Amino acid sequence: MKVELVSGVYWVGAVDWAVRRFHGFELSTHHGTTYNAYLIQDRLNVLVDTVWTPFQEVLLGHIREIMDPADLDLIVLNHAEVDHSGTIARLVELCPKARIVVSRRGAESIPGHYHKMWKLEAVETGKRIPIGNNELLFIEAPMLHWPDSMFTYLTGHAILMPNDAFGQHYATAFRFNDQVDETTLIEEALKYYVNILTPFSDRVTRKIEEWRGLNLPLRMIAPSHGVIWRANPGQIVDRYLEWAAQKTSRQAVVIFDTMWNATARMADAVAEGLAEAGIPHKVFHAALSDRNDLLVEIFKAGLVVLGSCTFNSGILPSLAPVVEELHGLRMKHKLGAAFGSYGWSGESVKMLEGRLQEAGLTIAQPGLRVKWQPSDEDLQSCRQFGRALAQKLIEST
Ligand code: FEO
Repeated sequence: MKVELVSGVYWVGAVDWAVRRFHGFELSTHHGTTYNAYLIQDRLNVLVDTVWTPFQEVLLGHIREIMDPADLDLIVLNHAEVDHSGTIARLVELCPKARIVVSRRGAESIPGHYHKMWKLEAVETGKRIPIGNNELLFIEAPMLHWPDSMFTYLTGHAILMPNDAFGQHYATAFRFNDQVDETTLIEEALKYYVNILTPFSDRVTRKIEEWRGLNLPLRMIAPSHGVIWRANPGQIVDRYLEWAAQKTSRQAVVIFDTMWNATARMADAVAEGLAEAGIPHKVFHAALSDRNDLLVEIFKAGLVVLGSCTFNSGILPSLAPVVEELHGLRMKHKLGAAFGSYGWSGESVKMLEGRLQEAGLTIAQPGLRVKWQPSDEDLQSCRQFGRALAQKLIEST
């Protein structure tokens, strides 16, 4: 089925309903994903981005519904990651006259991936390529999210194709934002932002300001994953600005792991203290939760409370990837705290506090340790700990 964005501009990508792990196993994709590519028919025939290699015949099939791939004049590779460039080798065979357009950093990364002597045409921000009635305007977007990332804007039709930016891992029956469940769409867009773009939030803000400074009309945003923002495309730009600002929110998240329930009982009591102080919060067992989803909950919270009993002089293993990735994502404006039970050496709380601080969080309150199973008095202390943390959060927001 042909999917037309506007007259002469088509979605020719692939829907991957099955994928549940992306980037190898790094990122969970509960709703699958899509690999979006766009075909523009003007005086020149242009393909913007390709699809991951296992889906290359799907891409070619979609192009063939419209034209012979051999008649492509230009192939734009906005980004070298293989989910978008993965069909280029096949296209080079099939499209002998097609010029390949990349960003300046793409001229380094594409050969680095494919080790072929293809002729690449590197463009920089502001470069325009006339394609007939319209032009392609290129805007380099380094570190959104790779050095080679680039946006391509189609003048005339006013369609921005920003590759990964504004995308979502969301496989759907239909291709436009006004045709899918809005709540799931925004949650998936947020999960994408948190797990991929958070470290580059300052660049996101600056790139959006740069884009807005161009004063170009915007009819659609057509990213490389998920649905196309056709209805009110500016809404996702506004949300990106909001997410990039990482304003402190008056809500908390408690994430713990436990062996014989001592730290679990502490977690419940800490949460009761938060509730008594009126702080909205969620509680997660780290070993039973998806790490990427936990990072979204951490992103939403102004206060992050981690709990682990001491295990082999350290923390329970399920929390290690959470604090490791928290460090890499460099979230801002958050308070942190730690708690946990222990039997003899009792290092876990100090260790969690250290990891929170290394990740850039401010320790709101010295951590709370309980020896063996918590007594009634200990649980009272946990509730008090929760109330004190709540007070610190209120004072900071
Ligand atoms: Fe969807 Fe950076 O690749």
